[in-house]
Amino acid sequence: MSAPLPSDPATDPSFSDLLETRPTLTMDVRDGLLFEGVPLHVIAAAVGTPCWITGAKTLRRRARALKMAFEARDLPVSMHFAMKSQDHQATLTLLRQCGYGVDIVSGGEMQRALHAGISPSGIVFSGVGKSDAELRAAIEHDIAQINVESVEELYRLDEIARACGRVARAALRVNPDVDADTHDKISTGRAGDKFGIEYRRAVTLYGEAASLKNVRLVGLAVHLGSQMLTAEPFRKGYARLADMVREIRAAGHTVEAVDCGGGLGIRYRDEIAPSPDMLAGVIAETLGDLNVRLSIEPGRWLSAPTGILLSRVIETKAGSPESGPNFVVIDAAMNDLARPSLYESWHGILPVAPTALHAPTKLWDIVGPVCESSDIFARDRALPATIKRGDLTVLLDTGAYGSVMSSTYNSRPFAAQVLVDNGKWDIIRQRQSVAELIASETVPDWLTASRNNNG
Ligand code: LLP
Repeated sequence: MSAPLPSDPATDPSFSDLLETRPTLTMDVRDGLLFEGVPLHVIAAAVGTPCWITGAKTLRRRARALKMAFEARDLPVSMHFAMKSQDHQATLTLLRQCGYGVDIVSGGEMQRALHAGISPSGIVFSGVGKSDAELRAAIEHDIAQINVESVEELYRLDEIARACGRVARAALRVNPDVDADTHDKISTGRAGDKFGIEYRRAVTLYGEAASLKNVRLVGLAVHLGSQMLTAEPFRKGYARLADMVREIRAAGHTVEAVDCGGGLGIRYRDEIAPSPDMLAGVIAETLGDLNVRLSIEPGRWLSAPTGILLSRVIETKAGSPESGPNFVVIDAAMNDLARPSLYESWHGILPVAPTALHAPTKLWDIVGPVCESSDIFARDRALPATIKRGDLTVLLDTGAYGSVMSSTYNSRPFAAQVLVDNGKWDIIRQRQSVAELIASETVPDWLTASRNNNG
């Protein structure tokens, strides 16, 4: 996982380090920080803050690079974008144009994917606890594959498919008991995690499932965890799957497909991020000779570096002369970007002003306005000493698990979203209004009536 929330000023990347490793961002002497060539102050003036910004060019570039890593090895692999990381229609449309399908985890995500024109044959359904209605919808739309997470779900799927008069294509999602060596809250492949079917049980279950009339098992699926930074857990997990494929085949059953899940990590702070080539190499080495249809479900690697969260300083608050921290209060908060408060994740923060890059810095705590002490984006972070009310800042690498995890806590409406592409930009989600927040609420007549009676 990325480094813990308290920054270490001695080892934190400098502004120049952050810029050098983020080709999306450049500093212009007149216009300040540009994102894919567009001045951020222009977007802030037109759209307001906080505002999520996605770079289409960057997303396309990453989508192609990931595909090419596999093509370079002559390893056919289908790509199913884990849309839980970023589910905007524009993102899905763009990835569809790049030849991606999606990995979904709810009926809502299925509707979104279909609405963005993704073919059912490009949709794989993962996730613990799919409801009957969700399974029925997946069967009726004839999506490519349902990754079954438990013995119980397998039999329930068979029943629902029978009622629909269909045969559902499914894979067993295996829990291989491998430690992904990442943050506890985003590990999914250890024995105690709620995900998947225990791998020893999965081998026998595969055989038992042959007798089911309305489920056709096509193979196995796995997802080990997220923000994985080394090859070893991937190698261990996939090698275990390969052994299982051989065992299941030896027992006389057919295994056509292996879904390798997501998990490829990125650099947030100073992590040595693995390359797609590493992933392609490990998959080739462990599963390449099995003659199965391979697929992956990348989320973060594709979407995280394509997004930033633009915000404005509401005010600065000086600490006590003895030891208190100095605060920068920005207008984005934990309800917008939840990752730092949930996982102590480190996100780069850059000032937007042209003069800020080389200005003397001091250490600040960057916080949001929500009434919780955990509404804090960074501790002891070096930002310009003169940062002040009205200045713009950006939180980096927020394209994955950013806007999608927002809430309206403290009656803070969902922030606006903007898409930038080759110098042009557009609003792709209007800022929600408080009126819209209230609009779906009703007060029962009897509540006001009884108050009147009592009163
Ligand atoms: N496939 C399945 C079945 C998954 O559960 C996930 C992520 C992925 C693929 C995509 O994993 P990725 O390539 O993005 O690592 N909210 C957390 C991350 C939760 C990940 C959940 N599952 C965060 O902000 O770090």
